[in-house]
Amino acid sequence: MMSIRPPLLCAASLILVAMGTASAQEVDTQAIVDALFKAGGNQPNVRGSGAKGVCVKGTFTPSAEAPGLSKAPHFAKANAEKPLPMTARFSMGGSNPKVSDKAKPVTRGFSMRIADPSGDMVFVFISAPVFGTKTPQQLLDFATVRAPGPDGKPDAEKIKAFGAANPETTRQAAWLNARPVPASYAGVDYWGVHAYTLTDAKGTATVAKLKTVAAAGQLGLSDDEAKAKPDAFYADELKERLAQGPARFDLVAILGETGDPTNDPTVQWPEESRKSVKLGTLAITALEPAATCDGATFDPVVDLPAGVAGPTDDPMFAIRSPAYAISLSRRTN
Ligand code: HEM
Repeated sequence: MMSIRPPLLCAASLILVAMGTASAQEVDTQAIVDALFKAGGNQPNVRGSGAKGVCVKGTFTPSAEAPGLSKAPHFAKANAEKPLPMTARFSMGGSNPKVSDKAKPVTRGFSMRIADPSGDMVFVFISAPVFGTKTPQQLLDFATVRAPGPDGKPDAEKIKAFGAANPETTRQAAWLNARPVPASYAGVDYWGVHAYTLTDAKGTATVAKLKTVAAAGQLGLSDDEAKAKPDAFYADELKERLAQGPARFDLVAILGETGDPTNDPTVQWPEESRKSVKLGTLAITALEPAATCDGATFDPVVDLPAGVAGPTDDPMFAIRSPAYAISLSRRTN
């Protein structure tokens, strides 16, 4: 049975947990969040992941094609003339707020809350097409093995052995290690990792993975350039970039085909041979005080409009809601 601290969770989270898959129910969400904090050195008043980050604001403008895929009010034609306000946060993966912006095998995060009078639409993306684990139990084990020992460092041999026994958990780091360190939060693509279902006004459903494509392209640092940078440069870089104008991303739906797995976020669909549809443009316009992003979580499970649904067969999805609520309670109490 899943064990959670009931007072920490909103009713919606509890319902989702009850609807979750067998493996989501079997795992202890509190234990996962504890392990995530432990792996980052148990820092106080920070997120269980994405502890280091920058809060920003901007707008979302839907494309002409978006209403053909989803009836979500956020994608309505009228918003093309009057873009919707957005609060967003870029971050570094993990619960250590002192992680270096130069760290390579660490995902950068892009969380966004697009506001519409009908409610919010929240997406939480990372700078890799795959997540590190396919089940909550595997995430618990993955994080546990990374807990620092008495010397303040995790046991490299244990991590290696875990990777050998769970090869799918090594795909994300391999993908990140094969690419340069992003030079900017606005110079890298981000993926939603899970398979979403988009439903149009006629009830036609399309399974898609979502992605943001940076208008600036993939801006990478060479090893020498990275060496010359301080450990924290993303916030200043973004401030300077935004002084020149908005940083834009396309929000894109990569359409699934028969056989594309919807239950395993460690598997990337073959994007180059999949049709993709632009859903709209995200424009980041200015930095926001951290407090604007810190008072609530970007809950990618609960804050979805009709017309956009997360997967019901991916055990990693539903459990995110209670996990984020536990982290919020811990960092704000
Ligand atoms: C069982 C699966 C997962 C668990 C238990 C988990 C856990 C967490 C926790 C505890 C937080 C901190 C929330 C807060 O304090 O507001 C967080 C934040 C975050 N997670 Fe996850 N996560 C999971 C899956 C994922 C996946 C699949 C992605 C990638 C798409 C992801 C990307 C992020 C990002 C980018 C943040 C930072 C959010 C922000 O800026 O506020 N997580 N996660």
